[in-house]
Amino acid sequence: MNPEIEKRRTFAIVSHPDAGKTTITEKFLWYGNVIREAGHVRAKSNRSYTVSDWMKIEQQRGISVSSSVLNFPFEGCQFNLVDTPGHQDFCEDTYRALTAVDAALVLIDSVNGVERQTIKLMEVCRMRHTPIITFINKMDLDGRNVLELLDEIENILQIKVVPFTLPIGVGKLFKGVYDIHDNTFHTFNKEEGKQEIIQMSGVDDPKLLEISGENWYNEFKEQYEMVTGAMDPFDRDRFLKGEMCPVFFGSAVNNFGVRQLLNAFAKLAPPPMVRETDVRSVHPDEPNFSAFVFKIQANMDPKHRDRTAFLRICSGSFTRGEKVYHCRSGREIRLAAPTAFLAKDKEVIDNAWAGDIVGINDPGLFHIGDTLTDGEKINFTGIPDFAPEYFARVTLLNPLKSKQMNKGLEQLSEEGATQLYQPLKSPVPIIGVVGELQFDVMQFRLSSEYGAEVQLDRIPAYGIRWVMGPETAVQSFVNEYAMDCMFDKDNRLVCLFPNEYRLNLATKNYETLTFSKTSLT
Ligand code: G4P
Repeated sequence: MNPEIEKRRTFAIVSHPDAGKTTITEKFLWYGNVIREAGHVRAKSNRSYTVSDWMKIEQQRGISVSSSVLNFPFEGCQFNLVDTPGHQDFCEDTYRALTAVDAALVLIDSVNGVERQTIKLMEVCRMRHTPIITFINKMDLDGRNVLELLDEIENILQIKVVPFTLPIGVGKLFKGVYDIHDNTFHTFNKEEGKQEIIQMSGVDDPKLLEISGENWYNEFKEQYEMVTGAMDPFDRDRFLKGEMCPVFFGSAVNNFGVRQLLNAFAKLAPPPMVRETDVRSVHPDEPNFSAFVFKIQANMDPKHRDRTAFLRICSGSFTRGEKVYHCRSGREIRLAAPTAFLAKDKEVIDNAWAGDIVGINDPGLFHIGDTLTDGEKINFTGIPDFAPEYFARVTLLNPLKSKQMNKGLEQLSEEGATQLYQPLKSPVPIIGVVGELQFDVMQFRLSSEYGAEVQLDRIPAYGIRWVMGPETAVQSFVNEYAMDCMFDKDNRLVCLFPNEYRLNLATKNYETLTFSKTSLT
């Protein structure tokens, strides 16, 4: 493989809010020499580097709603970290970010264990067989029992765990971690912030007992025997299929265990992998350029009202100024100023390779999922829409602004934050979102960016499903369920079921149809 491509590691962090994603990202950037200080995390409203405060609403609410990308080098590898929104109401964006990565870091708070948003996001990783590495954070707090946590990850996240390190002690008495593979002990010293790496002859080395104290040592020994005796050994193939994950322990805020974790990413996480299209598989090492759009971000700079499309490069490389083929429209476009991202600074780049994520200016041409190539007509598959969970009818308050509203609804749905539906039996559009806060964002942006004041009337509904199957069955389904049927932005049939009973009934009565939670078959 081309060494430029082989050294790319593109990953995202999957975690529940407050598990420490921002903190660990900061440490990663420090190891990548991208920021000079790895001080403690600043108050949320005051983080100078937090990338996602482009949008006004984020600033007003002090939350982070848009994902972005950070590039940094480490140990000969070039990392692309696709940052994901911290707020659960924006996880649609996170779902999509996961389609652009080759691996994911699952971050778990040792006190809270596996939490709701992690479970949801892991479903997407499982669907895509994404290789996972897990970091159990906040070991300096009185967290849960180690074996219990490992058990929880295996059972709830449905993935085999293989601890690469094991902690000794916990909370105030956290002594450090033992590296099972090279028999080193990494000492934790919060006060002095110093870390020593001590080579042991094995777990029976008397030095380990001396450092740990008898109680902690005995507990560790028991866990070690359990882990090395009863658990499956690490198998790289199973890791690459997303069936098995290495587990590390540490404390992000104390910069403890983070280097080990990054090393593991450099060594274990795969370089860019083969990706599927509707025509053929695309190998990253092919000389021809190909990429897809996984995110569109509007108005990063309010003065220019611009949109940025984020591309995941899947094969080959491209040079600034080169022309590429936009497969959906059949047009040739010039990538004039592709950018890489670091915090608020966009840096214009000259070259990018398979695995990289770059931003390009979007003149309003791109949709999420669009493919760009050197000229070949292909479409990358596996970039689905996900079923939203909340729905509302959109009523325009000033009828003279209908053009503006329609443009706004369309553009915002192209960005992927909301989904837009046209009911079969009504002219009033319906929007669907993954989290309720997105309704506020939508209303705010329609008014501030498009000048359209709208009222959103919530629709109590059980859930939406994409309806697929033989045409005659689809037709009779549509006849029966016309009032609940709608078309999505790509004219695919969806049904908004008012309750679980109706969905179950439809599933039973229309056996040849599938009722899918994503737009993929
Ligand atoms: P997030 O992006 O996943 O939402 O989490 P973030 O990094 O903001 O961390 C959430 C809180 O957890 C922060 O505290 C952070 O300092 C703390 N934290 C992160 N890693 C560790 C760790 O290893 N040990 C301990 N004890 N705490 C950790 P905060 O009080 O909410 O913010 P701040 O005042 O520290 O900025």
